[in-house]
Amino acid sequence: MTPTPDAMSPVSRTALSVALVRAYESRRPEPLFVDPYAAGFAEAAGMPLKAPDGRRLSDLTVALAVHVMLRTAFYDDRLLAAGADQVVLLAAGLDARAYRLDWPAGTRLWELDLPPVLDFKQQVLDAAGAAPSCERGVLPGDLLDPRWPRRLVAAGFDPQRPTVWLAEGLVVYLSVEQAAGLLTAVGSLSAPGSRLLMERGRDVSGTAYDPSLAHVTELWQGGLGPDTEGWLEARGWRTRTTSIAEVGAAYGRPLPEGAGLAGGFIEAVRG
Ligand SMILES: C[S@@+](CC[C@H](N)C(=O)[O-])C[C@H]1O[C@@H](n2cnc3c(N)ncnc32)[C@H](O)[C@@H]1O
Repeated sequence: MTPTPDAMSPVSRTALSVALVRAYESRRPEPLFVDPYAAGFAEAAGMPLKAPDGRRLSDLTVALAVHVMLRTAFYDDRLLAAGADQVVLLAAGLDARAYRLDWPAGTRLWELDLPPVLDFKQQVLDAAGAAPSCERGVLPGDLLDPRWPRRLVAAGFDPQRPTVWLAEGLVVYLSVEQAAGLLTAVGSLSAPGSRLLMERGRDVSGTAYDPSLAHVTELWQGGLGPDTEGWLEARGWRTRTTSIAEVGAAYGRPLPEGAGLAGGFIEAVRG
């Protein structure tokens, strides 16, 4: 069967744009990471990689692409540095880390996302003959459905062991209440020493209108907002935030002039 993203909801389709950015980065000279599956996802979705045709990309398009590229590299490094043998990718989308990262032996990783995106992903990966580099479990479902923690435990997740959680490109699509509910559930499953990687929420009310990106920005709700760290600290996490400018400088990719990129990447540790 030919993989098709037709059943994917608007929020799930944002995963396709992320894959496209990863495909571009992967074929640059001296890429920050190589995702050998990203181009396959984009192509199967009818988004073939084209050479830029001379059209000027909007500032917001460039900003979002740089954000995705830097956060991918940063989270790759922090996931491997975390040293946990349980990994959960919340809203995994088309993240191929279970296949492309060099996980220590014995690592168990679960991917949670809505069923259509995980179906599409599996079809593309199977067609490519991909084999995971860790023990990978897939849990299709809605993270707003309070039953997901029970389903994760039933799938073999051990809440007594330290876990590293990744919520990449997710919370901005959630309201304050939804983000709080999800992160409360994550906290209840996190043994001391567990880590949570995610972006800081933001005030999305001032987002510039860009018609080419309205299908994405209209979905933004801002998550826990600019004081995501305060919310986490009050609930048993110690947080450290690295700004996107710091990440760009650390990876030798300073931010484009006037990119208007704000925000940061949080690494929270459960006390
Ligand atoms: C921007 S993509 C990010 C995907 C992936 N984390 C990455 O960075 O490649 C957002 C993802 O969130 C998922 N998502 C949004 N709301 C969700 C929900 N309520 N339950 C499960 N997944 C959800 C979408 O299906 C989509 O795959």
